[in-house]
Amino acid sequence: MRKSLVILIVIIFSASFITNAQKENTPAVNQLVIITNHAGPVISKDIYGHFSEHLGTCIYGGIWVGKDSKIPNTDGIRNDVVNALREIKIPNLRWPGGCFADTYHWMDGIGPQEKRASIINTHWGGVVEDNSFGTHEFMKLTELIGCEPYISGNVGSGTIREMSDWVEYLTSSADSPMTRLRKQNGHEDPWKVKYFAIGNENWGCGGNMTPDFYGDVMRQFSTYLKDYSGNGLYRVACGASDNDVEWTETLMKEPKNRSMFQGISLHYYSVPGGWGRKGSATNFTENEWWETFRLNYDMDRIITSHEAILDRYDPRKTKGLIVDEWGNWFQVEPGTNPGFLYQQSTLRDAITAAIHLNIFNQHAERVKVANLAQVVNVLQSVILTKDDKIVLTPTYHVFRMFRVHQEAQLLNTDLRCEDYVVGDRGIPAISASASVDKEGKVHISIANLNPNKEITMTCPVIGDTFKTVTGEVLTANEMAVYNSFEKPENIKPTVFNGYKMKDGILTITMPAKSVVVLELKK
Ligand code: AHR
Repeated sequence: MRKSLVILIVIIFSASFITNAQKENTPAVNQLVIITNHAGPVISKDIYGHFSEHLGTCIYGGIWVGKDSKIPNTDGIRNDVVNALREIKIPNLRWPGGCFADTYHWMDGIGPQEKRASIINTHWGGVVEDNSFGTHEFMKLTELIGCEPYISGNVGSGTIREMSDWVEYLTSSADSPMTRLRKQNGHEDPWKVKYFAIGNENWGCGGNMTPDFYGDVMRQFSTYLKDYSGNGLYRVACGASDNDVEWTETLMKEPKNRSMFQGISLHYYSVPGGWGRKGSATNFTENEWWETFRLNYDMDRIITSHEAILDRYDPRKTKGLIVDEWGNWFQVEPGTNPGFLYQQSTLRDAITAAIHLNIFNQHAERVKVANLAQVVNVLQSVILTKDDKIVLTPTYHVFRMFRVHQEAQLLNTDLRCEDYVVGDRGIPAISASASVDKEGKVHISIANLNPNKEITMTCPVIGDTFKTVTGEVLTANEMAVYNSFEKPENIKPTVFNGYKMKDGILTITMPAKSVVVLELKK
């Protein structure tokens, strides 16, 4: 079906529905039109990616406990964490940072563990790390999870030779000093590495560079990152933070720059109350709940403004926008090390995750990778650990519910909905996206942001006929409900029955403050 025809159908359908609703004096019209027989771009599975930095207890304690630990592990890596990440099918894992990446010298982290040099983690709490988790351990972790490694190279304090040697060590099968060293350290065959970042936040912690200067440096580093032995690197240039379109423009406008990378990054955190104050993760008002989602929705606007620049210089969309850090950033849990960024995750974070993942789905043509910050024990984690205990956060459950979108095709949708208003300010009360998978199953993911009101939404499903509908819902009685080590199942998804399908129109009644994923089968 031609795109213009699809748009026309949506307009006609929406107009007739709204007119009927007005006649019936319906107070608010909530409608999601879904066209099922005109599939759009493939939703890259890699937008469901995660991020593991040497920060707080993300790596040490959270992922890595060492072979001699009583905590069940495989070669030192926690089995419970690996199993939980396999369950949500994480497609890629970014490592070793973050800001840490531009202080990391990979050679400190190879060879016999007892001989490795200790280092000071200058960014995060000034703690001393023994480097027992290095390249081999990270690659083993990705093998156990079954995901792509995404490695961030050190531009800020590293050398071109160091970075180029790392790629050779990892991926070459030739006989060379680097590959002999890898074999000596116990790994005969090269690994495959796709995603490789040329620095992190080089406008800030990665060297405080100007965009012009970074462009020059990036080209130099990238020149020496080779594709060895059939490995194809996807080079990610350091991109902007938030709305800094000047950074993106400077890197994109220069043809010499853009020939040196396949993707350009973007970082955006939602920080209710601003960087100075940062709200509490668990003790917040409805105003802060609303404000968090207002900030979350900004991700759409921010992506759109960077996309406009990419579209100007790369209209064929060969370069990916790589949102490799996102999430809510709150005050640390009281009594914890401020440098460790340990925070709890509530139902509010689950809705944040749903809003972001829906936005990334909608931008499937340009957003190719995204990484939630961070995977275990740091910021908006999907997993929290304490000694041998593990907690799956509400955010984890959203990633499990949304995994059905990975590699599915985005569907054309048109959402009209009421506002969720606090004071005199409103934001859309509903966030949504839909996709069709390879077996023809349609998945619709929706969040109702309003904590006070269930919302009924009508979904005309145009194109195909579906016989069965099933669904899951994540919700709770209070906004700040979370899973603790004492009560790890306080909040988890349950079966959702709040829908009706009649004459091709699906009616969904979403509980207040909920995330719903529906599956439609022919
Ligand atoms: O995710 C925490 C930090 O936030 C990362 O190290 C850095 O890249 C960003 O500023």
